[in-house]
Order: sequence, then structure tokens, then C-alpha cells
Amino acid sequence: MTTKLGQAGKPHGIIGRVVGWIMGRYNCPDNEWTIALLEISTRNAILEVGFGPGQAVELAAIKASEGLIAGIDHSVEMVAAASRLNKIGIANGQIELRLGTVMELPYRDSFFDKAFSINCIYFWDNPVAALRELRRVLKPEGRLAITVRESDHSVYQAFKPEKLAELLKQAGFCSIETHRDGDPSHPLACVIGVK
Ligand SMILES: C[S@@+](CC[C@H](N)C(=O)[O-])C[C@H]1O[C@@H](n2cnc3c(N)ncnc32)[C@H](O)[C@@H]1O
Repeated sequence: MTTKLGQAGKPHGIIGRVVGWIMGRYNCPDNEWTIALLEISTRNAILEVGFGPGQAVELAAIKASEGLIAGIDHSVEMVAAASRLNKIGIANGQIELRLGTVMELPYRDSFFDKAFSINCIYFWDNPVAALRELRRVLKPEGRLAITVRESDHSVYQAFKPEKLAELLKQAGFCSIETHRDGDPSHPLACVIGVK
């Protein structure tokens, strides 16, 4: 099966599983850095969109040890991989991972304390509508973190931090902050907005 999103945007089949494995190794700094920026508390309810192989879910669950970590990804293979990695948290009810899309989050309004998405916004058809949907499920004062690769490569051009900040503003977020990891060999930006 092929998809216009490619393997990074929607990993599928055997190659998708390999791509997921590579993401899990290569994107460790992205996951650790984003989780640290979110300042997750023990009882927080957290949502990740586009969790891929599930390492950031695992890290968030360590921080929110008495909370809930929910995840949505539209790849069957990634839901399976992340579910394997997080099987203990799923079994004890701390983690729930679902197949779905950012455009239609299966959660009620004002449910989560924090939400995040790493290396994923490039693939969203309508980023502002998706960010509005994420805002809907956040509690008032809830925080959203969007992490992207900071690069001049054409894929990343539309999501440079200043453009990302503008998209968050259009979606209704306020107190928008931009962070940079400052690592020239793995340059990342994270834009955080408050509901
Ligand atoms: C490049 S991977 C990043 C995975 C992980 N966050 C990381 O940084 O390693 C993008 C992930 O987002 C998922 N994804 C892309 N668009 C999505 C959408 N509209 N709704 C839900 N998941 C999506 C893909 O299936 C894939 O698992």
C-alpha cells in the first residue's frame, strides 16, 4: 500500500515497521527535550498526537506516574509498535493508545493538562484546524508543545518557528514561547502555546 504521506507521515507495512524503529532511535533527543519542556506533573493528563514507535509516551508516563497518557496516531503499525513498548502502562490503565487522526480527537472538551506532537505537524492537511482541535481538548491554561526540526530543507520551511507561532496564534493559543535546543548537529525548535 502506498500513501501520499510517505513512510514518515504514515508508516505502513514491513518498511513502515523499520522506519518506526529508526525514528525511535534517531528521535530520542526530540522526545526527551520536548518532555522536559512540558514540565509534566505526577497527576497530569497528557495527550500525544503522532507518537510513532512510542518512546515519548513512555517518557511522559514516567513523569505523570499517577496520571493518564493518551496517544493518537493514524498508522496501524505505529499503534502496534507503541503498544508493545508501553504494554505495562496500557495493562495498568495509565496509558491508552488509539488509532485516529488529529482532526477528530476522541476526547471531550477541556480534558488534558498538556498535549504535544513531535515531528508530525508537517503531515497535517489543515494545521490550524488541527491545532484548534488540540486546543479544544486542553483545559483552560493547558499547554501545547509542537516540536519540529529546524532546517532549511524544503519539507520544514512551512513550519519554521516563527510560522509555527503564527499558526498557534491563529488557532487561539496565547503566551506563545519558542525554544531552541541549540544543538547544531540536531537542531530542534519547540513552540509552546497556552489555551
Ligand atoms: C515522522 S513520525 C514522528 C514520530 C515520533 N513523534 C517521533 O518524533 O519519532 C510522524 C508520526 O505522526 C503520525 N501522523 C502523521 N499525521 C497524523 C495525523 N494527521 N493524525 C495522527 N497521526 C499522524 C504518523 O503516523 C507517524 O507515526
